[in-house]
Amino acid sequence: MKRGGSADAKRRAGESAAEAVDDGMVVGLGTGSTAACAIRALGEAVDAGLGIEGIPTSFQSRELARESGIPLTTLDESTPDIAIDGADQVADGHLIKGGGAAHAREKIVDTAADRFLVVVDAGKVADELNVPVPVEILPDARQTVADAVRAHGGDPTLRRAECKDGPVVTDNGNLVLDCEFGAITDPAERAATLSTLPGVVEHGLFVDVADEVHVGTAERVRIEDW
Ligand code: A5P
Repeated sequence: MKRGGSADAKRRAGESAAEAVDDGMVVGLGTGSTAACAIRALGEAVDAGLGIEGIPTSFQSRELARESGIPLTTLDESTPDIAIDGADQVADGHLIKGGGAAHAREKIVDTAADRFLVVVDAGKVADELNVPVPVEILPDARQTVADAVRAHGGDPTLRRAECKDGPVVTDNGNLVLDCEFGAITDPAERAATLSTLPGVVEHGLFVDVADEVHVGTAERVRIEDW
């Protein structure tokens, strides 16, 4: 899955969202290269005395949070005051996530937070959602979900690993189908349909759950309230 974008724009977006974190907060820590910029900025703030706890959304964000010195907690013990996470595409208040195959845990943590801030570079902002939707599936359901996605007009592709033979295996031990639907004109309906398919663990359509998007550009950050 393509995950380009300028490093400076991502850093600006991540640092901007990190500034919204106050002392004493529990913070959902997203996954991906843009969320990583926010985690690093929070780590520097912790070094400077900010008292927070983080709830990671993946192995990757947990490792980075630990390296950055951010104390960790879990959803069993705390509710996030705020979550900061990236996206593969944003349009009209909705997101497609899962380029890093972490969208199941991301959706749990991001939607549990009182405020969910999305961090992206300007290349992720679109008029309509039209990139493939990552769908995490139980391994046994690979064929049945693929057939059902086709029956609903989609074109599923099993995500292949880049440094391993065979498929990507998620942090939860599952597989990912990247499902091409073309332009998604009714994200809520598409999300509801995907959620009903037996064997689907979680899909990457995040409908109406974000509160703010911090868009990093070449020179600045634009903050949009959703
Ligand atoms: C992880 O599974 C994803 O949801 C990421 O948050 C998303 O792919 C954005 O990643 P980048 O910031 O690296 O583009």
